[in-house]
Amino acid sequence: MKRTGIALAVLLLGAGIAGAQQDLVATRIQLMKDNGKSMAAFAQMAKGEKPYDQATVDSSLTKLEAAAKKLPTLYPASTKDVQTEEKYTASSKVWENKADFESHIAKLGKVVADNKGKITSLDTLKAAIPQFGDSCKGCHETYRIKKS
Ligand code: HEC
Repeated sequence: MKRTGIALAVLLLGAGIAGAQQDLVATRIQLMKDNGKSMAAFAQMAKGEKPYDQATVDSSLTKLEAAAKKLPTLYPASTKDVQTEEKYTASSKVWENKADFESHIAKLGKVVADNKGKITSLDTLKAAIPQFGDSCKGCHETYRIKKS
């Protein structure tokens, strides 16, 4: 009886930890989806599908900045084996080359900092988009895996 109790406690503890790791992964995937939305908003304006809108530019930059600040805390080694139903997953290389991975997050942070307050027109937006795109792609090509 006592043993069962302990086994159960260990099980529940394990489930609690797994839940916390799931939350970290869900949080970073949500941030990535938001990054995607910000980039899509930029692209729509650049292509003329939507009129240039300063408020959208500024709020997207604020979200990208927040993502770059938060991402370094969302890839602890304990999340390495977390499975999700999402289309993409983090490569195990994230944890093999953690410093390099983090340098890609820092690069995104720098691109945001360089452009904050400086995107004030369609032309300056168009000039900035490739910098953002390169920082996303630079990390994804090594550290993001498409599952299917
Ligand atoms: C430091 C590396 C890194 C940077 C920088 C980065 N990403 Fe990601 N991204 C990832 C990884 C790793 C995943 C896989 C999901 C995970 O992290 O668990 C991912 C997943 C995604 C996904 C898929 C989410 C889903 O549906 O599963 C989108 C969309 C995305 N990123 C957009 C972006 C955009 C847009 C940028 C640039 C503004 C960006 N990312 C910058 C590493 C990065």
